[in-house]
Amino acid sequence: MNSMKINHPYIIAHQDRFLEELFQLLRIPSVSADSKYKDDVFRTADFLKAKLMEAGAENIKIMPTKGYPVVYADKIIDESKPTVLVYGHYDVQPPDPLDLWLTPPFEPTIRNGKIFARGACDDKGQMYMHIKVLETLLQTNALSCNIKFIIEGEEEIGSDNLESFINENKELLKADVVLISDTGIISNETPSITVGLRGLSYLEVAITGPKRDLHSGLYGGAVANPINVLCEMIASLKDKNQKITIPHFYDEVIELNQEERALMNQAPFVLEEYKNALDIEEVYGEYGYTTLERVAIRPTLDVNGIWGGYTGEGAKTVLPSKAFAKISMRLVPNQSSAKITQLFSDYFKSIAPKGVKVELTPHHGGEPAITPTNTKAYKAASLAFETTWGKTPIPMREGGSIPIVSLFERKLGIKTLLLGFGLDEDAIHSPNESFRISNFFKGIETIVEFYKEFSKNS
Ligand code: BES
Ligand code: MN
Ligand code: MN
Repeated sequence: MNSMKINHPYIIAHQDRFLEELFQLLRIPSVSADSKYKDDVFRTADFLKAKLMEAGAENIKIMPTKGYPVVYADKIIDESKPTVLVYGHYDVQPPDPLDLWLTPPFEPTIRNGKIFARGACDDKGQMYMHIKVLETLLQTNALSCNIKFIIEGEEEIGSDNLESFINENKELLKADVVLISDTGIISNETPSITVGLRGLSYLEVAITGPKRDLHSGLYGGAVANPINVLCEMIASLKDKNQKITIPHFYDEVIELNQEERALMNQAPFVLEEYKNALDIEEVYGEYGYTTLERVAIRPTLDVNGIWGGYTGEGAKTVLPSKAFAKISMRLVPNQSSAKITQLFSDYFKSIAPKGVKVELTPHHGGEPAITPTNTKAYKAASLAFETTWGKTPIPMREGGSIPIVSLFERKLGIKTLLLGFGLDEDAIHSPNESFRISNFFKGIETIVEFYKEFSKNS
């Protein structure tokens, strides 16, 4: 049996149109990080409003925030029945570097059964499944709980305006469970349900040495070079075992016991395939932990960008005045983003030599999250996978971050179900991002099945 075959008659009958609509959505370059796309990001919200309307949603509103708007819609069939709050994001990462795309990022193209486009998987493809699920449920008279949607346009830049949006709309957002498709599964052979996400602290650092660029011959060796200093400071943030050296960095980290670690390492993972897919000879990370552990249950510190001095053609002998870096830390329960940002800042300033000045600018953050497996929603999702995939999904923690998950829990007391369908091969945030067509349709079918199970006996 081919487990990726679609069986649902309505989905089969309308699959070409579903795909064409997703293509229309993918053609809008809704890059939230870059203001040159501002009009396109707003236009994406309008597009979703129209599509929610066509699907049969009600109370559709484009709700302004200080940044990009949140699209709200619902379908309340009976106040006494449970309510699912679907969250997704319509903004995407910048498509750069453009020259590495085989086809343009905002001209969705099919190759080998995959849709190639920025946002194909993260998160337009996965978010749009939910709008088609609503249509499918309504057109087949199968909706037997309430559904609310909030689709935001600032996830990729840290969801900074979402906290006040939630605070101001607590009544509107009341629900029994939050449902998000913005994560992945281990593989189509081994479906999984994400049960944990890492948090994030993100800072920009600027090091200033002499007040102007200097001749590196006349001054080199006598004055602190901010690029050299920055590199030394960054290098000292980890020891030889790749442990982070910031004092108290690990204080709040919950260590898993041997049993829990053994369980998570049972997930299918082939190191050779992992290395081959990335074209690396060896993996690299914190001593004493496996690759699966390093990306899920351990905190990290990474430089995301570093610049300064002369980077043009040829050679220029210069001792630069300034050096910069963007540094992120992925966090695990129970680390707090604000606390870690503070610890980093204090320590980074303390290790700077006297000859330089240090400036720190915190960017967005997000808290780590653990989602429960003993809920009605999780069990419904597990049964749904059994029906549509023919396999029981295994719970798995993932390394990425979705700031809203812990916000929903803290502000509204609502737990989240992370029901994603992405694969490692989808290359989210990278050039040639893709989403398998079969996962798009199988995802729709699985979510339809989830609603069926979730609404039973209620
Ligand atoms: N959808 C991703 C997060 C993700 C992907 C989680 C795959 C688990 C598996 C999300 O859009 C994302 O990229 N989040 C950002 C965080 C944000 C604060 C910029 C991230 O993880 O870098
Ligand atoms: Mn996403
Ligand atoms: Mn993303």
